[in-house]
Amino acid sequence: MNKNSLSIVILAAGKGTRMKSNTPKVLHRICGREMLYYSIKESLKLSNDVCVILGFEAERIKEKMQEYFGDKIRFLYQDLVDFPGTGGALKGYLPKYKKVLVLNGDMPLVQAEELSKFMHLDSEVVMSVLDLPNTNGYGRVVIRENQVQEIIEEKDANAEILALHTLNAGVYCFNREILESYLPRLDNNNAQKEYYLTDIIALARRDSVTIMPLFVEITNFKGVNDKLDLARAEEILGDRIKESWIKKGVLMCLPNTIYIEEGVEFVGECVVENGVRICGDSKIIHSHIKAQSIIESSIIESSDVGPLAHLRPQSVIKNTHIGNFVEVKKSQLESVKAGHLSYIGDSEIGSGTNIGAGFITCNYNGKSKHKTIIGKNVFIGSDSQAVAPVVIEDDCLIGAGSTIRRNLKKGELFVTRGEEVSKAGFFYKFFNKKS
Ligand code: UD1
Ligand code: MG
Repeated sequence: MNKNSLSIVILAAGKGTRMKSNTPKVLHRICGREMLYYSIKESLKLSNDVCVILGFEAERIKEKMQEYFGDKIRFLYQDLVDFPGTGGALKGYLPKYKKVLVLNGDMPLVQAEELSKFMHLDSEVVMSVLDLPNTNGYGRVVIRENQVQEIIEEKDANAEILALHTLNAGVYCFNREILESYLPRLDNNNAQKEYYLTDIIALARRDSVTIMPLFVEITNFKGVNDKLDLARAEEILGDRIKESWIKKGVLMCLPNTIYIEEGVEFVGECVVENGVRICGDSKIIHSHIKAQSIIESSIIESSDVGPLAHLRPQSVIKNTHIGNFVEVKKSQLESVKAGHLSYIGDSEIGSGTNIGAGFITCNYNGKSKHKTIIGKNVFIGSDSQAVAPVVIEDDCLIGAGSTIRRNLKKGELFVTRGEEVSKAGFFYKFFNKKS
């Protein structure tokens, strides 16, 4: 794709009142990344002139997007007081190239391949049209003789217009001169007192500008205006992410019950059982993640995890078995077995070590976190605790029920237990019962 022929501008200055949130709409996340991330990512596949229009919470959005894209995108600030609306958003915008694709920033499902179709039609303006029975919230598109005549916002429409089910999906491809000549002519004489980008259509049509509709699918062009839209969009994107990994060879049992985020990567032959949630920038290499486990920003290699295990961020697990009810956080485990009921936090554990059921690292003393270092071939008996900071050298044997509060030397046996107390038949005496 030649990236030197199309400018793309993404409108992201609105607050998104219908989200009922203090977070700007475009920063709401689906499948682990902000909505705006997705439209920028796809736009950069088509153009080296991508501009994002900011207004509400501009700096917050800019900072976040720069984390992902650095200086590959540029930003422009909208004057939301004097020029509110999608038309106001483009005031002062100067595209580099002759074709300009305008995208609403609340369309996280758009894909480059679909967007490139707008370039292939020979028309001064091409605009996206959805044909849907559920028209709620969309501007209505009036089409005659395969030319778009006008777009009427729902709030300004009469009953006849409201009955139309040809809807403005919110993507437009303009020849640059069209924007230059019609943007200055927009007014805000409408229900929302905003400058509507969509009014360009009727103005241009009056001058016989060619405006072709391009019919598009909701699975790519869904707009997100409220939290229900957000949830639905996440389902669509989630399916797309899972399908793509399944096609690459990941085995998923009941994929409808699995949640995989955008930043997750699989390598080699992996199995993901039902009910699993894998988040952040996790990397799963030749591993088996069993039912109902949660993995957050961790690296798992040649291991099996779960069922019902929880790997929290920065865990790195290699050749390891993690069983049910084991929680691991910010720890490195290599060739370790931790089969049941443990908390392993801020730890490093060496190969051949066996962690008994109920072992806990006490990594937090109420003020700060400390590390637990466990060497190779250590056997830790059930129901033991390591009070960090602590180092357990190789080949140690720790008896069940021990509390480790000092460093242990290589090869050491360590047991701490209260003394045994035993009184035969004490129960009956205490409760005054017969045996
Ligand atoms: C818009 C369209 C509507 C279309 C729908 C598709 C207009 C007037 N209406 O309505 O025809 O059916 O999208 O989803 O364009 N924005 C700014 N500055 C503003 C206002 C909005 O940058 O002053 C941005 C928002 O951040 C958002 C996008 O433009 O990303 C669309 O705004 P939104 O308020 O969601 O418009 P809709 O009511 O959905
Ligand atoms: Mg919208």
